Amino acid sequence: MVKFSDIKGFVFDLDGVITDTSTFHSQAWHQVADKVGVNWDAELADALKGISRMDSLNLILKRDNRENDFSDDEKVQLATEKNDNYLKLVNQMTPANILPGVEDFLIDLSDKGYLLSLASASKNSPLVLKHLGLGHFFSKSVDPATLKKGKPDPEIFRRGAELLDLDPSQCIGVEDAAAGVQAINSAGEVSIGIGDPKVLASADINFVDTTKLNLGNIAKAMG
Ligand code: G6P
Ligand code: MG
Repeated sequence: MVKFSDIKGFVFDLDGVITDTSTFHSQAWHQVADKVGVNWDAELADALKGISRMDSLNLILKRDNRENDFSDDEKVQLATEKNDNYLKLVNQMTPANILPGVEDFLIDLSDKGYLLSLASASKNSPLVLKHLGLGHFFSKSVDPATLKKGKPDPEIFRRGAELLDLDPSQCIGVEDAAAGVQAINSAGEVSIGIGDPKVLASADINFVDTTKLNLGNIAKAMG
């Protein structure tokens, strides 16, 4: 692993790292799964973390071999319905939805001169950041609409480093999704996985939740 002193920037995922919108995405998809009669469970919810909107719908339909039962138009309609469900939840968000310790961590990183960028697959991330009052930390954000491939492909994390004019090896990527940790590792950045260490086994550093996310613990973990 690279040395902690080589690190100059942090590339953040949003949903499930900065705020608990991953549960909102799950709730909104669960409603769609119920509507089309696809069985919902925690494993499916985990598999959707970090996955783009249309890819998520296709994964849900594939679950019960239903991917060929809907036309492209019907799929767009289902994805739109999910997003409408999701936005109802997002529009009730306030800074109280920032996960514990995250705002202090962002302030500390900025104060110490680390560069920050956002690598979220969500087209709703500007709106979510606005509700949280954290938009000013992320003037550098990868636009997911411009990506050729989604997570676990490394493109989004490479672009996150590029926006900071840093080499990936000078960056730490922070993720809650297995697909996201894989993307960070393939991009050549140090990966921090937030959540269940069994699900995030390939992360360089694991913290069970965001309360442990601080520079002291990261420096310690990097040795
Ligand atoms: C994030 C979430 C996924 C979501 C994706 C696209 O990666 O973890 O659950 O499907 O963003 O989000 P969007 O808001 O564009 O539908
Ligand atoms: Mg996430």
